[in-house]
Amino acid sequence: MESHSHIFEIKDISYSYPGGKTVLENFSFTLHHGQKAGLIGHNGSGKTTLLHLLMGLLVPTAGTIHILGEKMESEKDFKAIRPKLGFVFQNADDQLFSPTVLEDVAFGPLNLGKSPKEARDIAMNTLEALDLKGFEKRISYKLSGGEKKLVSIATVLAMDPEVLLLDEPTTGLDMETREHIIQILNDLDKSFLIVSHEYDFLARTTRDFFGMQKGKILYYGDSSALHTHTHIHPLGDAPHRHNGHETHDHEDGPDHAHDGHIHTHGDHDTRD
Ligand SMILES: Nc1ncnc2c1ncn2[C@@H]1O[C@H](COP(=O)(O)OP(=O)(O)O)[C@@H](O)[C@H]1O
Ligand SMILES: [Mg+2]
Repeated sequence: MESHSHIFEIKDISYSYPGGKTVLENFSFTLHHGQKAGLIGHNGSGKTTLLHLLMGLLVPTAGTIHILGEKMESEKDFKAIRPKLGFVFQNADDQLFSPTVLEDVAFGPLNLGKSPKEARDIAMNTLEALDLKGFEKRISYKLSGGEKKLVSIATVLAMDPEVLLLDEPTTGLDMETREHIIQILNDLDKSFLIVSHEYDFLARTTRDFFGMQKGKILYYGDSSALHTHTHIHPLGDAPHRHNGHETHDHEDGPDHAHDGHIHTHGDHDTRD
């Protein structure tokens, strides 16, 4: 057990892309040790930008980032901490670059200083633990989209990170792979932060969720509420109809709960 209770603690972060508009302004966010959280938000609300800031791939213009108790002040700090952060890119082609699956999954452990034999063993064990035995000889770029995503998760888990960051892990996946990923995440004894616009997926994999809009956290709730109480509107800002029932207009703002319940739009809303 780590002595620090926060995996990520970011305070008053601001970020603008060069020549672009401000994406995050005075943004604060904490992920506790052991927390399994989801982050939901419209396209363009800044979710991927947040993940890239947490990984040190982008540098904030203001504010502070602490990771695992360490203050991140330079690329050197991120370089030291990055192996503990398992980042699953939205696009698996950004993750896989070796000829074979075995080489891709062994790459992280090798990079961490394991011997070729140790790295191979870790890779084989990781593939087996994820029910991907037999994939080791496959050609990475020839895998299907779903297989690439599963192997991407294997490349990250092979490094035994302290936390997993997943950016839209279910985009474009078939149901079978989606179920496989849900099972992997549920069996995992690690903290994670999943960016997704799929409420149902988050309800089944996370315990808490954050609703993000225009670079701000507008909502924080318990994912279990996503299971049965149908509707949340961290995002809805236009009148719309729920499952053929009543129509609400949201004069009370984009983020609210009805009767104390959380409301989701199911799969038929217009996000994305
Ligand atoms: N490389 C970039 N250069 C300039 N603007 C960008 C870049 N990447 C994203 N943006 C802009 O930043 C905002 C947030 O993007 P992003 O973090 O990708 O949102 P999300 O992941 O929530 O869809 C959007 O307005 C997007 O157009
Ligand atoms: Mg994104």
